[in-house]
Amino acid sequence: MSGLPGLGLLRRALSRPVGQPRAYSALQRAVGYDRVLRRLAIEVLKVGPDDDVLDVGCGPADILAGLPAGVDYTGIEPHAPYLAAARARWGHRARFIGGRVEELPLGRQYRWVLLLGVLHHVGEAEARSLLAACAARLAPGGALLSLEPCPRAGRPLLEQQLYAIDRGRFVRSEAEQRRLVGAAFSTVQAERWDGMLRMPYSYLLISASASPGAPPAGHLE
Ligand SMILES: C[S@@+](CC[C@H](N)C(=O)[O-])C[C@H]1O[C@@H](n2cnc3c(N)ncnc32)[C@H](O)[C@@H]1O
Repeated sequence: MSGLPGLGLLRRALSRPVGQPRAYSALQRAVGYDRVLRRLAIEVLKVGPDDDVLDVGCGPADILAGLPAGVDYTGIEPHAPYLAAARARWGHRARFIGGRVEELPLGRQYRWVLLLGVLHHVGEAEARSLLAACAARLAPGGALLSLEPCPRAGRPLLEQQLYAIDRGRFVRSEAEQRRLVGAAFSTVQAERWDGMLRMPYSYLLISASASPGAPPAGHLE
């Protein structure tokens, strides 16, 4: 998304500090993203005793604050500082793997595959291979949850500029996200999450499953 001339500079200036896990998590809390993760954990995931979760691009794994202590959670993350922070904070109750999901050996499949705030960091070809890798790790009857910023036409300039300064260079419309996810999954449902941050911002939550007969994610029924 294009923006005002200084926005590229601002994005680059923010990029390095936000690559540090403490700054990343602090910024996310400041804008209210912790509430988004909590709602996702409590209202959508509703993890049961037999459910397991693969969190792709887990970052510092802040979502674990909203998940029950006994959850069977695996996070995979290629950015070493985020991975180290996730292990330091949550290593006693979760498993973390360093690397990209495309490199994760096939074999285990998960009830839930989370892809939270990842897709807008990658271009078309990488997004397609990432989504295919997620689909291959999803158990029958399981669901992928993708949460992404998602601009809407006609919103105030301030909101449009907020997407433009995001480190992710590939913020996509709802139609583009549906198309991308639909290339790897046969059932795609989407829901807008607006007004959850302390600034004007819109998210798109997509629930996708591999087979048309698979049950949809609870909140999106
Ligand atoms: C903005 S962070 C989101 C962190 C966390 N999911 C959250 O919602 O706070 C996106 C993360 O995706 C990771 N990522 C990008 N491509 C990936 C891939 N192919 N496999 C796994 N993680 C990836 C990046 O390293 C980055 O930490």
